[in-house]
Amino acid sequence: MKLLLLGSGGREHALAWRLRQSPQATNLWVAGGNSGTARLAVNLPINPEDTAAVVAAAQSLSIDLVVIGPEQPLASGIVDQLTDLGIPAFGPTQAAAQLEVSKSFAREVMQAAAVPGPQFHTFTDRQAALDFLSRHRQPVVVKADGLAAGKGVALCPDPQTAAAAIRACMDDRVFGPAGDTVVIEELLHGPEVSVFAFCDGETLSELVAACDYKAVDDDDQGPNTGGMGCFTPPPFWTAELAATIKQTIMQPVINELARCCIPYRGILYAGLMITAHGPQVLEFNCRFGDPEAQVILPLLETDPIAAMTACINGTLRQTPVHWANQSLVAVAMVSGGYPGPYAAGFPIAGLTDPETNADAAADTIIFHAGAQLSRQPDGSETVVTAAGRVLTVVGRGDSLPTARAHAYRRVSAIHFDHAHYRRDIGDLTARRWNIL
Ligand code: AMP
Ligand code: GLY
Repeated sequence: MKLLLLGSGGREHALAWRLRQSPQATNLWVAGGNSGTARLAVNLPINPEDTAAVVAAAQSLSIDLVVIGPEQPLASGIVDQLTDLGIPAFGPTQAAAQLEVSKSFAREVMQAAAVPGPQFHTFTDRQAALDFLSRHRQPVVVKADGLAAGKGVALCPDPQTAAAAIRACMDDRVFGPAGDTVVIEELLHGPEVSVFAFCDGETLSELVAACDYKAVDDDDQGPNTGGMGCFTPPPFWTAELAATIKQTIMQPVINELARCCIPYRGILYAGLMITAHGPQVLEFNCRFGDPEAQVILPLLETDPIAAMTACINGTLRQTPVHWANQSLVAVAMVSGGYPGPYAAGFPIAGLTDPETNADAAADTIIFHAGAQLSRQPDGSETVVTAAGRVLTVVGRGDSLPTARAHAYRRVSAIHFDHAHYRRDIGDLTARRWNIL
C-alpha cells in the first residue's frame, strides 16, 4: 500500500517507524517530516495544514491510506475531503474532531453521556463569567474553549487569578477566537494519565496508557511545554482500572457521538485524572499524544495498517488490537530556552549507538522531532536542531527502572549546543508521585 503521513514531530517519526514495519507498506511519503522520517520515507515539502496541497499530493501519488498525526488538519476537515474523493484517511472527521477542538462541545457530550468529569460552566459573556466567580469562591480552572496549543488552561487557586485568566481570554484575546468562549471547571486532584484506543465509530480496541510530563524542568517546575517526556505503563494501571475507564468514559462518549450521527473513527485520547472518586475526564484529544506515541507505538503488536483500516471500515470488532506488556520511558531533549525563545541550527552528535554503530539498538530508539538534515560545506549531510523539542529518546525494558536506565544511558551520549532535558522522567521516587 502507498501511504501518506502528515506531520513533522517525534510522534510522526514514531508513526513512520511503525508503519514501515508493516508488511503491507510499499511506499511512504511524509507531508512535512524531519531528519528521522527522511531515513524511512520521502519527505514532501508540503505544509500538513495546507489541505489543498495535501489532497493534491494524495491524488497525484495514488495514495491508498493517509495517516494524520497532528490535530490541526483534522480540525480543518482533511479526513472529510479525502473521504469524499474516495481516499481512505485515518482520523476523525471535522465534526468528530470537535471533541478536541471545542472544550464546551466535549463537556456537553460528556454530560449527555453521564461521563464523570468536573462541574463546569460555559460562558460567551465576560461579565457573566466574572459574576459567576464572585458567587463561587472555590479554586477553579479557566479554559479557552478552542485550540490554544496546550496553553489555554489556567489553574486558579483564587478568584483574582481566575478573573485575570478570563480577562486574558475575553478582553486581551491572547488566544484569539479560541478564547471568546471560556469554560470554568472545578479543580480536581490526583495523578494524571493519557489513555488511548483505536475506534471504528462503535467499537473500541483494548486501551493503552501513559503518563506525561508537561513542565520544562525537574520536579514539575517552570512553564508548560508540549511534553518533556512520558512513560508506560502508569504505576497505578490495572486491568480493573482500564475496564472502568472503557465502560464509564470512553465507550459512553463513542455511543453518544454515534447517537448524534457523528461516528468517531481514529485514535481516541482521553486525558484523565484519577481522583478519590474515580477517574474523571480533563479533556479528549482526537489523535495520538506527543510524546505518548513514542512509547505506545513500540507496544503495538498488531499490524498498524490493519488496525487503521479496521477503524475506517468499521471492522475493529473482527480485528483485535494487541499491546505488548513492556515498560518504556521517553525523554525529550529540547533546545535550551524552550518553550521561550531559543537558538537552532546546532549539529547533533551521538545519534549512532556506540554498541551497535547504528541508530537502532535493542533497548533504545531515537525518534527525531525538531531535527532536520543540513548540507555542510564539505557536501556531507548533518542532523541539526530545528525546533524546540529536538529528539525523543526512548528506552525499553521489562521494568520501569530498566527502561529508564536505557533511556538516560542513550541521552547521555547525545550532544548539541544548549541541550536541555529533564532527569526525573519515570522516577517514581519524585515528589509528584507522593500522591500514589
Ligand atoms: P487540558 O489541556 O484540558 O488537558 O489541561 C492541561 C492541564 O491542566 C492538564 O494536564 C491538567 O494538569 C490541568 N487541568 C485541566 N483541567 C483540570 C481540572 N479540572 N482540574 C485540575 N487540573 C486540570
Ligand atoms: N502530550 C500531550 C498531547 O499530545 O496533547
